[in-house]
Amino acid sequence: MSAILQLDDVARRFGGGRTLFGGAKPTVHAVRGISLTVARGETVGIVGESGCGKSTLARMVVGLDHPSDGTIRLAGNADRRASVQYVFQDCAASLNPRKRVRQALSVPLTKLAGLRGKAREARLAELMETVNLDPAFLDRYPHELSGGQAQRIGIARALAAEPDLLVLDEPVSALDVSMQAQVLELLADLKARLGLTYVFISHDLSVIESVSDRVAILYFGKLAEIGPARAVYAAPQHPYTALLLASAPAPGRPLDPPDEDDGTLPDPYDPPPGCAFAARCPRAEAVCREAMPPLAAHGGAPDHQSACHFPISHGAGARQGGSRQ
Ligand SMILES: Nc1ncnc2c1ncn2[C@@H]1O[C@H](COP(=O)(O)OP(=O)(O)OP(=O)(O)O)[C@@H](O)[C@H]1O
Ligand code: SF4
Ligand SMILES: [Mg+2]
Repeated sequence: MSAILQLDDVARRFGGGRTLFGGAKPTVHAVRGISLTVARGETVGIVGESGCGKSTLARMVVGLDHPSDGTIRLAGNADRRASVQYVFQDCAASLNPRKRVRQALSVPLTKLAGLRGKAREARLAELMETVNLDPAFLDRYPHELSGGQAQRIGIARALAAEPDLLVLDEPVSALDVSMQAQVLELLADLKARLGLTYVFISHDLSVIESVSDRVAILYFGKLAEIGPARAVYAAPQHPYTALLLASAPAPGRPLDPPDEDDGTLPDPYDPPPGCAFAARCPRAEAVCREAMPPLAAHGGAPDHQSACHFPISHGAGARQGGSRQ
């Protein structure tokens, strides 16, 4: 499959520079060197705890922010570059409260597709049908929509620009379980019908498992593990992935670290030189605090990779890079 999106060693730092009085401003290291390829037509799930850099990464992919280092490339040529749209967690809040749905959806149709008059009206009706909403909702204000309806409008607004790739940042986290299921079903249906590619961000492991072809586990601004969803869930290699899976045993349950894990993250102003998970890791050894483990395959499938000096082994076939099993 051809790549639609390619990230090479992408980093994003906030702050830095000098204050008015010449003092150094602190720098937050939000994303710390991520390389990732997304193939056309696949869904890549990105999961990790709050503050690990998921939204910062998403904002850079859609062009709302730019990397401090590294490159982000969308497939295409001079005639047509693949287009990408963002679906927010709280679509109601991202809509202008004083504008009806019709106006919110008309902006991309006019600006990006050049549609006006009857052609625009027809496309508005088509978009509403695509997200299974009655066209009467076009005349509503955002506060007159339920969470699920607002999310459908958010999806319709993204689709108005006829994207190839949707970056969905916690698209169902604000919804109750039955509404979540409906929106997830809609997203699956749209993907099949329109041939879309998804980057799907969530802190909910069961949602990520249900939607993803591949899963990327993010920890403190870096990829801890990446691989086919089935392999990562059945045989996690990175101790952080194993902790996450042990923390949320039931669908929809929030991440709830075991008692022995205090959940402390390193200081984002001063990242450690070695593995950022070392302070929480039961397998940590001296080398972990000194040397950053590279993302690499550890004897499983070549596309199942983790950044760990002592990855967890699963059975006789799994050869290890480090000495532990
Ligand atoms: N504009 C900014 N200025 C300074 N720091 C920022 C900015 N945006 C994000 N950060 C910091 O970058 C880190 C990553 O934030 P980000 O919002 O990407 O996390 P997240 O994984 O999306 O978290 P959540 O699950 O809570 O949405 C955090 O430490 C955050 O405080
Ligand atoms: S590199 Fe070391 S500290 Fe980091 S996850 Fe692996 S074993 Fe744990
Ligand atoms: Mg976020």
